Amino acid sequence: MRLSSRHFEMLRDLIYQALGLHFEETKADFLEKRVDKRMAALGMTQVEDYVFHLRFLDPRGAEMQALANLVTTNETYMFREFDQLQGFADHCLPEVLEAKERSNDRTLRIWSAGCSSGEEPYTLAIILREIMHDVDDWQVEILATDLDEVRLDMARLATYGARSVKEVPDEYMAKHMTEVRDGEYQVCEATRRLVEIRHLNLGDRTAMRNVRGVDFIFCRNVLIYFDDASRKTVVDQFYHTLAKGGFLFLGHSESVGRISTSFKLKRLGKHLVYCKE
Ligand SMILES: C[S@@+](CC[C@H](N)C(=O)[O-])C[C@H]1O[C@@H](n2cnc3c(N)ncnc32)[C@H](O)[C@@H]1O
Repeated sequence: MRLSSRHFEMLRDLIYQALGLHFEETKADFLEKRVDKRMAALGMTQVEDYVFHLRFLDPRGAEMQALANLVTTNETYMFREFDQLQGFADHCLPEVLEAKERSNDRTLRIWSAGCSSGEEPYTLAIILREIMHDVDDWQVEILATDLDEVRLDMARLATYGARSVKEVPDEYMAKHMTEVRDGEYQVCEATRRLVEIRHLNLGDRTAMRNVRGVDFIFCRNVLIYFDDASRKTVVDQFYHTLAKGGFLFLGHSESVGRISTSFKLKRLGKHLVYCKE
């Protein structure tokens, strides 16, 4: 099958409306291969039929979800962007914990939005258990969400190969990871327990509005796949989701400067972090 420009545009618009993801024309081949796969699974030969199916015969979004599982980019590993995590651990986390101690609030909520197969939220769980020696006296929740159901199933297993754990310091490997098979390591139960895994589409405004009172949002290397308009919608919602004094962390190549003036910018070494005052 060759995707004509017209069909590419139709599919691109349907994906954009449902997921907020933006595909440039240069991604036509990439999209074509994924659509081909879905059409084969549905026994279809005509792209028109597939577009019609997505438009009119998919009221619950099951086919859009199946396509979403194929078109997302899921690259991730534990302790990715180590410097930024160091800034979180050394500056932002102690600042938030001290403010909470002062007001006798022993809850801490972190959201890893676009967590892929879970390496990021488990990294955050390891950091919390390393920094907060009284972590068990706190009500801690690390909410880990993604669009891709296949990756979320991997996150639930919490078992990773050499590529995923290559940046984990040896000391943390020994304390938080158990070798379950040759070269495969599972996050230990006590660390896993801090993480709740859930499906959430950042393009779904209702689902987004239901997440509230979060102290830290990590949405790293996700918004690069969005255009400015959908990025702005998500970032505006993050602002409402954050508790006062909370922080938003983005990937090193991402910035909200152009799309939101609500946050106060703080510099952590070579990284920027966005604060809700
Ligand atoms: C490159 S991974 C980033 C993983 C991790 N945050 C990191 O920095 O290592 C991007 C993730 O964003 C997810 N994603 C893309 N669009 C999304 C959407 N509309 N809602 C939720 N997650 C989405 C993808 O499924 C993918 O797993």
